[in-house]
Amino acid sequence: MEANVPKRKEPGKSLRIKVISMGNAEVGKSCIIKRYCEKRFVSKYLATIGIDYGVTKVQVRDREIKVNIFDMAGHPFFYEVRNEFYKDTQGVILVYDVGQKDSFDALDAWLAEMKQELGPHGNMDNIIFVVCANKIDCTKHRCIDESEGRLWAESKGFLYFETSAQTGEGINEMFQTFYVSIVDLCENGGKRPTTNSSASFTKEQADTIRRIRNSKDSWDMLGVKPGASREEVNKAYRKLAVLLHPDKCTAPGSEDAFKAVVNARTALLKNIK
Ligand code: GTP
Ligand code: MG
Repeated sequence: MEANVPKRKEPGKSLRIKVISMGNAEVGKSCIIKRYCEKRFVSKYLATIGIDYGVTKVQVRDREIKVNIFDMAGHPFFYEVRNEFYKDTQGVILVYDVGQKDSFDALDAWLAEMKQELGPHGNMDNIIFVVCANKIDCTKHRCIDESEGRLWAESKGFLYFETSAQTGEGINEMFQTFYVSIVDLCENGGKRPTTNSSASFTKEQADTIRRIRNSKDSWDMLGVKPGASREEVNKAYRKLAVLLHPDKCTAPGSEDAFKAVVNARTALLKNIK
């Protein structure tokens, strides 16, 4: 039934879990794991060849957790090696580089690869995913901001952390929350606890914020044709304002999206007779 949930054990007893890392090559998966397990950072890029495996022990509440970490190679060349390792996983560390848009855009493809390898009976709902927006120390090159990453993660019910394997920022907090969530899941019979990461906003709100971010001008932002009338602009504005008003919408980036919509309406109305 719940194939990837380890046998329920009595509280206080040890628990064995499997965790994998996923994400494009060079985003910092191995460095994140190394920073946590070995407290060090290697600046030279040493591509993972296929899979790296390690075991570590952590304490969560009164339980000792034995963690088997499978650190996957991100390069497409290693697909044949890593596809064996998706099964029987309780936790996924999904990493992108905040300075590489491609690595953020690729997150959906990573989920799709995992889904395909788990097959039609695989269930991704009983796995804890943590998204790491990595390399936040490289502020100059950053192109994916926190609200965009958080929106993607939280709209899927995933945890989200800003991390730097180089400085260590966010790494311990990320692993701690990740392991606690996995233990909660195991103790909850393999169902994601409802309290931690389930999105408190709708898909429509998340999609609208994304659409607004990517709009090319004010007409596009309000979703009206260029040359639309005052009434059409106001009608579109009211609809978006109800959807995104900060009092109603808690989605990451909603405040900025709401402000952008207000500004777009003001700019358009100025020029409409
Ligand atoms: P593959 O094994 O090929 O899939 O790559 P990976 O995702 O494991 O990347 P890896 O951890 O090997 O890191 C790639 C490069 O990014 C290395 O040169 C690291 O030193 C660098 N790097 C990793 N994390 C950070 C970070 O947080 N900040 C900075 N500035 N560099 C980082
Ligand atoms: Mg690696």
